[in-house]
Amino acid sequence: MSKQRVLSGVQPTGNLHLGNYLGAIRNWVEGQSQYENFFCVVDLHAITVPHDPATLAENTYKIAALYLACGIDLKDSTIFVQSHVPAHSELTWLLNCITPLNWLEDMIQFKEKAIKQGQNVNAGLLDYPVLMAADILLYQADKVPVGEDQKQHLELTRDLVDRFNHLFGKGQKIPVLKSPNPLIRSEGARVMSLTDGTKKMSKSDPSDLSRINLLDPPDLLRNKIKRCKTDPVRGLVFDDPARPECHNLLTLYMILSGKSKEQTITECQDMGWGQFKPLLAETMIAALQPIQDKYQAVMNDRSYLESVLREGKEKASEIANQTLNQVKSAMGYSMPL
Ligand code: AMP
Ligand code: TRP
Repeated sequence: MSKQRVLSGVQPTGNLHLGNYLGAIRNWVEGQSQYENFFCVVDLHAITVPHDPATLAENTYKIAALYLACGIDLKDSTIFVQSHVPAHSELTWLLNCITPLNWLEDMIQFKEKAIKQGQNVNAGLLDYPVLMAADILLYQADKVPVGEDQKQHLELTRDLVDRFNHLFGKGQKIPVLKSPNPLIRSEGARVMSLTDGTKKMSKSDPSDLSRINLLDPPDLLRNKIKRCKTDPVRGLVFDDPARPECHNLLTLYMILSGKSKEQTITECQDMGWGQFKPLLAETMIAALQPIQDKYQAVMNDRSYLESVLREGKEKASEIANQTLNQVKSAMGYSMPL
């Protein structure tokens, strides 16, 4: 039997942080040998909020390099750039025309981002989940590993599949589009801000002290952990709703040290912050060092990175174009002669 297919992506906006890594990329890496994988740098999504043309291409390369640095293995996985495969834009248009407007207006992420943008909301921001659905459906993906915040977009994708197959799939032996399942790990699916344990860690938080970027140098990491928000209570525990920062930092320590929950509790239950913080900082530095080293090596070899993306484009285009043709044919389009 052939392997199930996985597709996921990250936007090339700013640096990747620990939330992106623990919520998404780490899970791509851990599961990759079981699946046939497609990992995309979603640069078309990146322009749904104001962007700087001078840095878009460079940020796209950086994210692709970080995928490799985090352990994506080209033996099992294809890395490519969304805008290099025009089928993504084309399927988005086709799906747009069967997407009820109110489905998009109900999206939590749209509402949150629209509030942040104020007057400056473009149609692309509303349409963001349809482009994401196109990313997934072009590859007939079975599984989509993402953080918790993307669950609603996956539900919309599944609703679109049902709607499309109902409207245009009648009489087909197998459905034209396949319904994907989200793959959301319980631990690390929602990494919280270092300055407020009730808010998720985010690229768009104005304060850099709120997040750990994968490429932060050791001294900066130490400083961020030293200054991060804690509470006056002694002894560290998981799952106390009154102590969101404590839960978040302890979870980070558990995941990054590779220890079990029980081991972490035994080790840290009697610690004060003064003892825990340096331990967390050094654990973080040790976990990120290999990623940072590999990143530098990949970024120093531009022609290698370009060849990875060129090959990725070829492999991705072949599958994407096949699905696009099936979709167009089901919708009644004539094929170019
Ligand atoms: P984005 O930065 O919005 O492109 O997100 C890329 C991936 O990282 C998605 O799968 C998100 O669900 C995941 N992600 C983003 N922020 C967090 C966070 N704070 N905790 C866990 N996962 C996250
Ligand atoms: N919307 C996702 C995010 O912000 C990024 C994304 C775009 C994505 N297309 C995708 C994730 C397809 C998984 C599959 O995190």
